Amino acid sequence: MTKTKDNYFKNILKENNLILAPLAGITTLPYRLFIKEMGCSFFVSEMVSAKGIFYNSKNTFPLMETINEEHTNTICGIQIFGSDADIIKDVVEKVINETTFDFIDINMGCPVKKVVNNNDGSALLKDLKKAGEIVKTVKEVSKKPVSVKTRIGFDKIDTVNIVKTLEDNGADMITVHGRLKEEMFSGEVHIEEIRKAKKSVNIPLIANGDMFDEDKAKEMLDRTNADGLMFGRGANYDPFLFKKTKHFLKTGEQLSFSTLDKIKAAQRHFEIHMKYSSAKNKVIDFRKYLYWYIKGMKNSAKIRGNINNITEEEQVYELFKIIEEFI
Ligand SMILES: Cc1cc2nc3c(=O)[nH]c(=O)nc-3n(C[C@H](O)[C@H](O)[C@H](O)COP(=O)(O)O)c2cc1C
Repeated sequence: MTKTKDNYFKNILKENNLILAPLAGITTLPYRLFIKEMGCSFFVSEMVSAKGIFYNSKNTFPLMETINEEHTNTICGIQIFGSDADIIKDVVEKVINETTFDFIDINMGCPVKKVVNNNDGSALLKDLKKAGEIVKTVKEVSKKPVSVKTRIGFDKIDTVNIVKTLEDNGADMITVHGRLKEEMFSGEVHIEEIRKAKKSVNIPLIANGDMFDEDKAKEMLDRTNADGLMFGRGANYDPFLFKKTKHFLKTGEQLSFSTLDKIKAAQRHFEIHMKYSSAKNKVIDFRKYLYWYIKGMKNSAKIRGNINNITEEEQVYELFKIIEEFI
């Protein structure tokens, strides 16, 4: 087992143990900058293909955008996926080491067919020897700390073997999404497996899966004894989740935010999005966030219909006005 003494993440997690999950197409640079304003200061980029970097794919480089603001009182890692150790070695040495990202996260959890069929993402959980080799290779050439985001198995539970292999090969931190690849994103999260994972390693262990409010977050922390929590969809639906959880863990009190607060936050997100997004059509790209923000609001079915027709910036501001009138 790796010694924890000089572990980069261990020191950071003492102050800052709530992390934004990597979400492909969602946790873009503008989204991360927005969530920073909403109280989170520990991020991972959306996943980036090592092969895409290697072959200079024009679609890959926009995913690697980062600015200094993400690394000031904040840390942001880049998540890579791939299963060819030579390619990964090359891109870490030549490209990722030269970026300002604070750490490298390796994706060993993605269940999407296109990724798994290439033996990437969660497919690595079927071949732990290879998974270990990849971590070892990245550690050998990386100038940055290395974490891994994984699941509890491919089609059968294998949590302890997985996390021990990752630790033995040099991972500095592991995040466990408490589901099998086969379970994709539904069914109950196996909290007990995350607890076992935490007990099996000496490096920091982060718990992930289905924390949609601060109660669930506290329950996850209490039941797993994890060193930190990673929020994905919960933070999408509720941009105040980081503030709420931080406050709840510290004081036991629940903060409440109004629908108007949420709309103001959404507007702020939109401003940042328009400034920093590299999407081909920034407004259409923002629709997905709008759907989340209106979820559960009065008249959300009607508003949803309006969102489907939005193509211009002014229409978004118009929509915010309409929502404010409705609430
Ligand atoms: C739309 C979407 C995109 C995702 N993209 C990634 C990704 O790029 N890398 C990754 O490791 N996990 C990815 N995940 C998994 C999440 O990071 C997280 O593990 C999962 O959603 C469970 O956490 P949650 O319940 O808090 O959302 C994605 C999940 C969703 C729903």
